[in-house]
Formats: sequence, C-alpha cells, structure tokens
Amino acid sequence: MEEKTFGKDFVWGAATSALQTEGSLNADGRGESVWDQVYLKDGPGDESYKKIDEDIALLKELGVKAYRFSLSWTRLFPEGTGSLNRKGADFYLHLVKDLLADGIEPYVTLFHWDYPLALELKGGWLNKDSPLWFEEYARGVGRLFNGLVKNYLTINEPQCFLGMGHYEGSVPPYHQYRDKDLAKVIHNVLLGSGLAVRALRAASSLDLKIMMANTYLPSFPANPANPDDIEAARLAYLSPKFNHALFSVSLFADPAFLGRYDRRWLSHLNIDIPYSESDMKIIQADYDYFGINIYSGYKVVSKKGQPALVPTPDAPHNYLNWEIHPEALYYGPKYLFERYRKPIFITENGTCCGDKIEEGLVHDLNRMEYLRDYLRMLGKVIKEGTPVAGYFYWSLLDNFEWNNGYRPRFGLVFVDYEKGARRLPKDSFFYFKKVIASDGGEILKDQD
Ligand code: GAL
Repeated sequence: MEEKTFGKDFVWGAATSALQTEGSLNADGRGESVWDQVYLKDGPGDESYKKIDEDIALLKELGVKAYRFSLSWTRLFPEGTGSLNRKGADFYLHLVKDLLADGIEPYVTLFHWDYPLALELKGGWLNKDSPLWFEEYARGVGRLFNGLVKNYLTINEPQCFLGMGHYEGSVPPYHQYRDKDLAKVIHNVLLGSGLAVRALRAASSLDLKIMMANTYLPSFPANPANPDDIEAARLAYLSPKFNHALFSVSLFADPAFLGRYDRRWLSHLNIDIPYSESDMKIIQADYDYFGINIYSGYKVVSKKGQPALVPTPDAPHNYLNWEIHPEALYYGPKYLFERYRKPIFITENGTCCGDKIEEGLVHDLNRMEYLRDYLRMLGKVIKEGTPVAGYFYWSLLDNFEWNNGYRPRFGLVFVDYEKGARRLPKDSFFYFKKVIASDGGEILKDQD
C-alpha cells in the first residue's frame, strides 16, 4: 500500500466569503458595506443567505472536515459598532450549529473586505479608532459563538484589500494612500487584528485557534537541484523587486510574527511606521497558525548570486490569466515555515475556469488536474517535514469574483445564475471528495 502523505488529522476544507456568496444585502437589518454598490451591479448571485441549508448539505456530501466562511460585519453590527442585529446573529448561529451537528468545524473569518460603510464614512482604517472598532466587533463575535466556534481568522489578505483598495485605488473604498496615511492604515489593520485575537480569546471559554490569512506569490527555483537557484528563490519572495503594490508577505507577517516591520519594504514604499512597544506587543499576537492563500508563483534563477526572474509564458493559465505553478504549494509553505516557524494552514488555493454545463454535468478536468498537481506538491513538503495543518479549496461555490463579476468560476459546485442560482456539483467536487475520503491517497494514483 502507498504510504499516506496527509495524516488523519489533516483538516480538509472548502472556503467562501460573505459578500461573495450571501446576497440578500438588504435583508433582516443588514447595514451597507463598501462593496455593496459594486456587488449590486452584477446581482443576483449565489443567494447563500436563502440557500444556506443546501450549502451545508453540499459540504456534508463533500465530506469536508471544515468550512471556512466569513461573517458580514454589517449583518451583525449594521453600523459597524453598537448593538447586535439579532436576525443576523441568528443566521450565523444556525449555520454554525448545523455545521457542528454534521461534524464540520466552522473556521470563521471576521473580515473578508466588506467593510461597514458607516465606519468608512468616519475614515475607515485611517481613523485612529479603527483598531478599537475591530476589537469591539471581535468581542461581539467571540461572545456570540462562545462554546461553539474554536477556529477564527481575523483578516483576509491585507495585501489585497489594502493594496488594491487603499493604495492602487482600483477596488472599494478606492483610496490611493501614500506616505503617512499609507503607514497608518497598515499599522491600524495589524493592530486591529492583534486586538481581535485578544478579544476573541477573552470572550471564549474554548481553547481557540486563531490565524490571519496572508497571501503572496511564492518564488521557486528554475533548477530544483541547483543550490544557488534554491537560495535565489528563498531571497526573491522577500524582495520588493518581484512583488507589485503591497503584495508582500513580509510587510504584514514580519510585524505579526517577528515583532518588527520589514525595513526593506518600508523604504521601498517610502514610508516610516513609528510605533510604541506596546503596539508591537499587540501586533505580534500569539497566532496559532500561519494562514496563507496561494494560487500562483514565479520561477527564479540565480544570476551572480542574485535572484532573476525566469518568464514562463508557456505555463498553463487560469481564466483570469494567472499562471498555474504547482511548485508554489511546495516552496511557499517551506520558505514561510523557515522564516516564521509556525505551522502552516493553506487558507485558500484553487483555480477558475470557464466551466459550462454539458448534458447536465460539468466536466472540469483542468480543475481536477490543478488539485492533483498542487496537492502532490503540498504532500511532498509535508513528507519532508514542514508542518501543514490543513487545506481549504477556494471555493465551495462559483461566486462573485470582486471586480471580475461572475465569469471566473472557482467553485467545486457550479452555480447556474440563469436558473435561480441552482447548485450543480462539478466533476472536481467528486474528485475532491475522493481525495478527502482517502486522506489524500487519491492524488498519488498514477504518479509518474
Ligand atoms: C482571494 C480572495 C478570495 C477570492 C480568491 C480568488 O484573493 O481572498 O475572496 O476572490 O482570491 O480570486
């Protein structure tokens, strides 16, 4: 029998986020978020708020051990702060309790980009009170789910929502901060996340496991047998030369895990982030895992001891034109563990295709190959000793892909928007089901 790569305790899961799937933006007292107007242009979407029982049944059928979803902050606290909206709370309590009854562990993300409009109008993450608002929200959530939820993610991808929404200005809330303002939003988000960790722990009687979900593009060596290339890849992912905007893992993870800002990135962005020791103590919160979203990566070679990019135009591309590089799921966790010394959680990985229904079925062979190839790499790095606790496929469902609307389909389940958001599991759903049921053994089949 083949040796198992993923242990029995490995957490297999699927992920979604509130704004991307729930719909019903005006239902039951939900307050407006900064993304609502963009979302409403494309509607009506997945309607998970109405179809949550169907989604839970799909998760059960898939056999996942965990479901990562996010809370709509304004469904719980319509103004961002203040009193709890009972109906919003009941929706999430129902979800959490039903998941637990089905043996599925909820992994709850507090903030996946749908920031309360009421708080944005007060300056959002630029306001000096923004970390406290987030702390208050976390405390409310911790109390609501006390005794039920054990796993939390504070913030999803500061690289993206700050990089695109507060630096490039390409997505809501469309800021292009520089200098002191840029320094402030970075610091406030990290401080808010750290305060949330404390608030959640204080509000819960359970032993919580908490992480933040970072993202980046792992670099990998052109020749994996050449130690110089391996060293070049180890350097490249930290260098501003290979990463655009705020798409840097160390900009956010160095303070959160090492207790200091990455000077190289600060000088690249031409900012200074003055902070007090007490702030840094909060920022360097005791996160239990290093949560990381990995989709793609890039190849580097060593040139005179320095990393140089090797363009890979022939690599397969997904529907959004991102290159497909399974190596990212080997070198990513490996280098991150070397630097941050925390067990890794792959909080997102997946691909989007132009899936179509053919005679009542969706044959997404490319997604199955993606899963197989990326998971083989993940299995390899685990076998060699990097601790990886779990893996969430993004996404359970096709959904609202932010500025790109509904055309890029990331789901294991097809959502037929023409037919009232009818759900139809794709071939990859059944493939992933086998992967989970075999503790990953399925991906090792037919290995050349
Ligand atoms: C991530 C994000 C998800 C999803 C995914 C696919 O950056 O956290 O919400 O959109 O990318 O693009």
